[in-house]
Amino acid sequence: MKAFWVSLALIVAPITVAVAAETAIRPGAIWPDDKGVHINAHGGGVLLHDGVYYWFGEHKIGGDAGNRAHIGVHVYSSRHLTNWKDEGIALSVVDDPMSDIVKGSVIERPKVIYNKKTRKFVMWFHLELKGLGYKSARAGVAVADKVTGPYVYQGSFRPNAGVWPVNLSEADKDPAKTVVARDFETGQMARDMTLFVDDDGKAYHLYASEENHTMHISQLSEDYLRPAGKYARMMPMGDDEAPAIFKRNGRYYLLTSGLTGWAPNPAKSYVADHIFGPWKALGNPVRGTPEQAAVTFGGQSTFVLPYRGRFIFMGDIWRPKDAIDGRYFWLPIEWENEKPVIRWRDQWTLKDLEGLK
Ligand code: GAL
Repeated sequence: MKAFWVSLALIVAPITVAVAAETAIRPGAIWPDDKGVHINAHGGGVLLHDGVYYWFGEHKIGGDAGNRAHIGVHVYSSRHLTNWKDEGIALSVVDDPMSDIVKGSVIERPKVIYNKKTRKFVMWFHLELKGLGYKSARAGVAVADKVTGPYVYQGSFRPNAGVWPVNLSEADKDPAKTVVARDFETGQMARDMTLFVDDDGKAYHLYASEENHTMHISQLSEDYLRPAGKYARMMPMGDDEAPAIFKRNGRYYLLTSGLTGWAPNPAKSYVADHIFGPWKALGNPVRGTPEQAAVTFGGQSTFVLPYRGRFIFMGDIWRPKDAIDGRYFWLPIEWENEKPVIRWRDQWTLKDLEGLK
């Protein structure tokens, strides 16, 4: 009998293709994981934990349906950033129609940070409730004891209900005048987002708010599970989304896009001495042809990954008609007169980063 099961196991074992170790990063190309399958972690971010990088992102399926969540948040691990091991689904959507994260809801731009005090991994994501298009504009939170999950859903909300931004004028507290005042009681709209942990351990949630017209930078509670009740408007009416923030030599840099949905538009860059601003616009970070600058190489920012004192821009080239075919474009951040800039490369290696300005 045992022999029968052994031979049956051999027959049904999936056929795996040996994947050659990859040393180059090829922006825009299919990026195979350890099983030879194109990485499925869109709108993602990377967490470095105990010497291992973990890439979390939206698991998409084929066709237009892939723009909604059918599986959840996928996670991959890597020591060297070029070869990624499939670690499975970190946060799964559910069948329960009463749950916020039921199959068919929208779960976008998930990011994970580690809380040293609670020793928990905390995931935030942009949540749109099933069947409501993009009207919900909520932040979802999930927590895990292990970096790869399973993440346990904690709930969703519009952040900062009943709290004024630190930098809002008295005149703008008029609900007839500003969306931030309109939404004061119910909480602020939260769509495209990222998370950032500062050197002092304080964490921040950056989200496109006010009908996407104004980015908010919102401090998190000590356990990183809730807003702390202190937030700023980044660039009022700046029309910024797709935030990717990083810190270099004590200054904060933020890369964003404009508001054209899945279609690409010119990227933007900003700098500030304090995370709550004031933020100064540094212009389009893309260097290349006018066409490349006009559409950010056909994609949109999602994260900036610090790597040995250098920074890697991570972006998505969306394929909304066949979401699973979305591509990634990772590019080295170079510096030009203290401004972060990116140039297209068909392929590059981490060694190339060392030779950069
Ligand atoms: C983009 C946004 C994506 C997704 C898309 C939906 O502007 O960056 O994350 O929300 O709109 O149209």
